[in-house]
Formats: sequence, structure tokens, C-alpha cells
Amino acid sequence: MTTEIGARRPKRILTGDRPTGRLHLGHWVGSLASRVKLQYECETMVIVADLHMLTTKRTREDVDKLLPNVRGLVLDYLASGIDPGRSSIYLQSAVPQTHELYTHLQNFAALDRLLRLPGLKRMALDAGMAGRSLPLGLLGYPVLQAADILLARADLVPVGKDNLAHIEIARQLARKFNSTYGPLFPEPEPLLSDIPALVGTDNRGKMSKSAGNAIFLSDDQKTVEAKVRGMFTDPNRIRANVAGTVEGNPVFIYHRIFNEDRQEVEELEQRYRAGKVGDSEVKEKLARVLNLFLEPFRERMAFYETKPDLLDRILRQGTLKVRRIAAETMREARVKMGIEDVWKAIETNR
Ligand code: TRP
Repeated sequence: MTTEIGARRPKRILTGDRPTGRLHLGHWVGSLASRVKLQYECETMVIVADLHMLTTKRTREDVDKLLPNVRGLVLDYLASGIDPGRSSIYLQSAVPQTHELYTHLQNFAALDRLLRLPGLKRMALDAGMAGRSLPLGLLGYPVLQAADILLARADLVPVGKDNLAHIEIARQLARKFNSTYGPLFPEPEPLLSDIPALVGTDNRGKMSKSAGNAIFLSDDQKTVEAKVRGMFTDPNRIRANVAGTVEGNPVFIYHRIFNEDRQEVEELEQRYRAGKVGDSEVKEKLARVLNLFLEPFRERMAFYETKPDLLDRILRQGTLKVRRIAAETMREARVKMGIEDVWKAIETNR
């Protein structure tokens, strides 16, 4: 085991999500696609961040939904092509060193900087905390995330735009720890998707579960067809022979991302601009494309749904593996901080 920063190969990646519901096409575009690809080049860890979920969701119902949400998230990962032989999927709250490192990182976290994060204010508002005082746990959200990242000694963190500031904080905390106690943590680099946020089916901001404008990876064929049929398009187009706008039109945004038949997309765009195609044809084609895209997801989902013990075993094994990594990192951190020697002296009475 080396402690040299950057000497470890291959590069290590950490990403993940809070277990708050099923994943949708926005997740695929924003982060899942790159995770699936990167797992063949890098050592990959995927965190099911239930401790982060608890910073805003603590009601009885939230906690009752936790277990099904955890399993649903793991199922979506596996359906997306996260290969459990290559990636360690793990449960954050089952890695106790997370709390330990979180405590030490808090000594380096600048309160004023955390207070300025717009993302945290948004999260507080979304959680119905408007006008109420900000819980310390929510303020520490990025510090907790830094603990995940540094514990895993990840080099790369594929995230959405909304998490960029958190990675910057993790980098800063790594630097501060390293310069205080000696080199231990690599400075994690964020990895942004080319397409940072996918617009929702209603064209009102990004796709999200709470906005009700999402197409889920677990939606069946009929559901996808219905959702596409109800999609927002150019509102000025009251008839098929009215010239339409392709730019910023969610139906065409999706076509460009998911339709592999470039020629068909270009042709549809031309006809749309010229008022020579009906919305229904464009949407029918899009539904076909999305269902084709989701077919392999459904096959993998069906496979794992018949084997619930396999899913739990995958999460268990991933968690045990990350626990070992976390224990080693935390041991080295305690040594560097000097607190390990203190306990050794007491323990051995020297
Ligand atoms: N904050 C992430 C989210 O928006 C979840 C998360 C927690 C995470 N720890 C992480 C992501 C570590 C990447 C790395 O849901």
C-alpha cells in the first residue's frame, strides 16, 4: 500500500446519488453514462449517499422509504450497466469511518464559505426550511461529501454542475489537511458531463422527479409513449404546416441526444422548420428511439428483479470493500494527525 499521492494507478473514481427515488434520463445524461464508460478505465466506486439524504429528509415516511429507495437505486445502477465486477456500489452509512473523517475535516471547513453556497440555500428551500434556521448538518453537506471523496482517495469525481462547488471544497480540504499533517489525499478533480442538465419533458427547467417532468429508466414502453406524447414542443405550432422552431425544443433536444440515426434527426429538423411534419410524427419517432434506448436497461432490470439476494449481495460486497479502503485511509490519517500515537501510548502504557 502506497501513501504517495498520485502514485496509485489506475485512477480512482467516486460518484453516487442520494437514495431519494428512481433515476431518470437526466441522471443518465448528466452522470450515469460517463460512470458506465469510466468503469472500464478506472477503479470505480459508487456511493448510495443515505447520510446526505438524511440532511433534508428525516420524517417517518422518508425513513420508511429508505430501504426500497436504496434497493431501487442499486437496481437502476445495475440496469444502467454499472458492472458490479468493476465498480463497488456501497452504502454510505455502513462505512463508519465516514463520520470520523467528517469530524476532522470540519476543523478545516470555512463557515463563511459554506454559508455562501447557493446550492445549500436551494436545498434548504426545497426541503421546506424557508425562514427557519439552517441545520448544522445541512451546512456540513459538502464537508460530508468531501469525507466520502477523501476517504476513498478518489482522483476523479463525475458530477453534475450543482455539485461543482462541493468538489472545490473537497479539493480545498484535501490541500489544508495535506499541508497541516503531511500528504495523504489526492486533490479530487471534478468531471463534468458535456451535457450538464437535461431539460424536462415540460420544458420548465431540468428534468427532476419532484417537478414531475421525468422519464425514468424504469418506465415501461407504454409510459414512455404517453410521456413523450404529452411533451412540450413549439407552442406556436398550432398546425403541422406552420414552420416550427427546433432550437430549445425539448423533443428535438432528446432526439439529438438519444437518436443514433443522425440522418433521421436532420431530416426531421428540416421538415419541422419548413412546416412539413406533424408533432405527432416527431414524437412517435422519439418514443421509439427512447424505448429502443431503454430496452437493455429493462432486460438487466428484469434479470435482477428475479434475484433480490444477488442485488443485496452486490451492495454488501461493495460496502465491505469500501470499508477496508476507508479503514486504511483513516488509519493513515490518524497516524499523520498524531492521535494514533497517543492512543498507542495509552494502550501499551508507554
Ligand atoms: N451530493 C451528491 C448528490 O447530489 C451525492 C454524493 C454524496 C456524492 N457523496 C458523494 C457524489 C461523493 C459524488 C461523490 O446527490
